[in-house]
Amino acid sequence: MIYYFSTTGNSLALAQKLAAALGDGVCSVTRTKEKNLEGPAVGLVFPVYYGDVPANVQEFVRSHAFPEDAYVYALATCGSTWGRIFRTLQQLLGEKGCRLAWSRAVPLIANSTICMKSHIGYDLKKLDKEDAVVREAVEAVKNRKEDHYQEQDSLLAQFSATWLGRKIGNWYLDVQVAPDRCVRCGECVRLCPMDNIHLGEKSAVMGDHCLHCLACLHGCPHQSITVRGRVVLKEDQYRHPGVTVQELER
Ligand SMILES: Cc1cc2nc3c(=O)[nH]c(=O)nc-3n(C[C@H](O)[C@H](O)[C@H](O)COP(=O)(O)O)c2cc1C
Repeated sequence: MIYYFSTTGNSLALAQKLAAALGDGVCSVTRTKEKNLEGPAVGLVFPVYYGDVPANVQEFVRSHAFPEDAYVYALATCGSTWGRIFRTLQQLLGEKGCRLAWSRAVPLIANSTICMKSHIGYDLKKLDKEDAVVREAVEAVKNRKEDHYQEQDSLLAQFSATWLGRKIGNWYLDVQVAPDRCVRCGECVRLCPMDNIHLGEKSAVMGDHCLHCLACLHGCPHQSITVRGRVVLKEDQYRHPGVTVQELER
């Protein structure tokens, strides 16, 4: 089984292509009810957050039982940098008596660019490399290969992983509902992987355990979610072209 986390579809599209090629299934980490993971091979596909494993994926690994002797592999999608992500994953799996056998970082499209600028013009050609990655992963999984990507140890990656680095990152990706723009359609509620948004009397309301994953920012049909107070453009909202909104809902 391939377990994935995805807010704008890069990781989901990759997981789906890989599952189709392997004849395996996909399951969202936010929808997995079973505490025991399935399969002789367990795939983990998720985005890089701050050069590391997203907090909810870390929690998923900690709180689930991996099948004994399972071949565990991972694909981490990102914009360009993956920092210490596989070291963290190795550590988390090691604590459970498992081992990460094979991993690849997959630079695709950075959905966080929306927090920095407008009129981005996402280069969808970057997604063309998916097929080659899937072929390589299929080959690895079928032959139970062992291989890892190098850690990208830069000063920025080290700083991003510190308490202060995360604080600044979270400020940078600070999303809020703009009550005057919100029409209470509920899409952000359905998209939030943390169940952190509910519909108040006049508008959607955010709770206090935001993952800063930007699912709501990219997915709001009315651009009613702001980043550091800035309204984003419809053209800058990103979703992988091969994935539907419904597939990304919680
Ligand atoms: C909170 C946050 C942190 C991110 N950190 C990084 C990063 O450190 N390096 C990078 O290259 N991309 C980073 N990104 C971009 C995503 O990793 C990238 O767009 C990913 O493919 C999104 O996957 P998804 O569409 O499956 O959600 C970050 C995005 C978010 C929302």
